[in-house]
Amino acid sequence: MARVVGFDCVRCGSRFGSDHYDRDCPVCRPAVHSNLVVAYDDSVRKSRPKPAAGAPWTLWRYGDVLPVSAEEAVSLGEGGSPLHKLNAVAAELGVSSLYGKDESRNPTWSFKDRLACLAVSSAKKLGAKVIVSSSSGNAGAAAAAYAAKADIPCVIFTFKGTSGPMLHQMRAYGAQVIAVENKKDRWTLMEHAVRHFGWFPTSPFFGPVIGSNPFGIEGYKTLAYEIVEQLGWRVPDWCVLPVCYGDALVGMWRGFEDMRAFGWIDRMPRFVAAEVYGSLEAAMTANVDAPNDMPKTHDTVAVSIGATQSTHQALDILRRSNGVSVTAGNDDMMRWQARLAAKEGLYIEPSSAATFVAVEKMKRNGAMRADDTVVTLLTASGLKDTAVTAKYQDDLILVPADFDEAIRALVARGIFPSAG
Ligand SMILES: Cc1ncc(COP(=O)(O)O)c(C=O)c1O
Ligand SMILES: [Zn+2]
Repeated sequence: MARVVGFDCVRCGSRFGSDHYDRDCPVCRPAVHSNLVVAYDDSVRKSRPKPAAGAPWTLWRYGDVLPVSAEEAVSLGEGGSPLHKLNAVAAELGVSSLYGKDESRNPTWSFKDRLACLAVSSAKKLGAKVIVSSSSGNAGAAAAAYAAKADIPCVIFTFKGTSGPMLHQMRAYGAQVIAVENKKDRWTLMEHAVRHFGWFPTSPFFGPVIGSNPFGIEGYKTLAYEIVEQLGWRVPDWCVLPVCYGDALVGMWRGFEDMRAFGWIDRMPRFVAAEVYGSLEAAMTANVDAPNDMPKTHDTVAVSIGATQSTHQALDILRRSNGVSVTAGNDDMMRWQARLAAKEGLYIEPSSAATFVAVEKMKRNGAMRADDTVVTLLTASGLKDTAVTAKYQDDLILVPADFDEAIRALVARGIFPSAG
């Protein structure tokens, strides 16, 4: 475990005491609302050996550089997800080395378990009485599961339109789920819960949103460590992420910075943010300090990344990594969801499919080269929202118990199965 000495502002670097986990930086406010990140004592970012070969292949393989020890952690077996080489999809996209980090293999079937594990473990250490999260689904499901394991009551603020499976999942873990009509009203309720009731927020809790709980963001460092180790201690040219508030962008960037300080790598990757409404893309073009709120031009199939405004922290990391932001439309995301399932055996959420829309666009406009090594972050399972998949599928073939009828139905759809 690494010793926490406080929190640093991601924008101006000001240092704050360890009771600042739930505040934005007062120095940067009101010009920019900026998130804080965990600050460790100087012994952490120093040369250190790589993990021992026999160390467990879970998030706790890297427990030495996390703010909670494996012994204190509220754990459900998170991390250590597979990195698949996606040869069939790579051939379609015209890139030679394409990988997918399958985060659906986490305990609640999304990458948010890395965040929830660190946030809820910290909450338990600090004696939190209630865990609170605002969520479109995955963050809430993860918070609810870890709160259940920690035996701490959990309240989730969500909105009408959250996908059924995620809603049922949160409630199954015993969380109290409260939906509001207007998405942005969640911040008013969350802020009251945190400031007046002292509930522990694992997610953002006021608007304009700055990002999630700093302890939780530390969990995402392990994505960077795992990817580099799975690539044989090589750094990919690109990491492509579905992005909402940019917590994973920040966490992964910190992981890569750590590894450079540890002496494990000697260069940094470039990041790509796949988003829906383009607030990061617009902010990069306009060269401003924080993204503006964009018009909600359509209903997105990728509800998990459906915010119209991203954060200063996301923009900051994109710039530091010499990165790019690319928007993804509904039909393209659903096309790639179907391709990944049919060609690679991976049924991913539409938000995760946005990463392939980004690669496709970047390959076409020449921003990505054929021999670049590209890692996509497949943040959640397609099972999180099967209704949206169903909308894009043909009707089910229904036949009487007659094999000739079955063959005729297949042939009618242009499918020609041969005997033997
Ligand atoms: C499946 C999925 N992918 C990506 C994201 C984006 O998260 P971040 O805040 O790290 O940008 C979220 C949640 O917001 C999510 O649920
Ligand atoms: Zn600041």
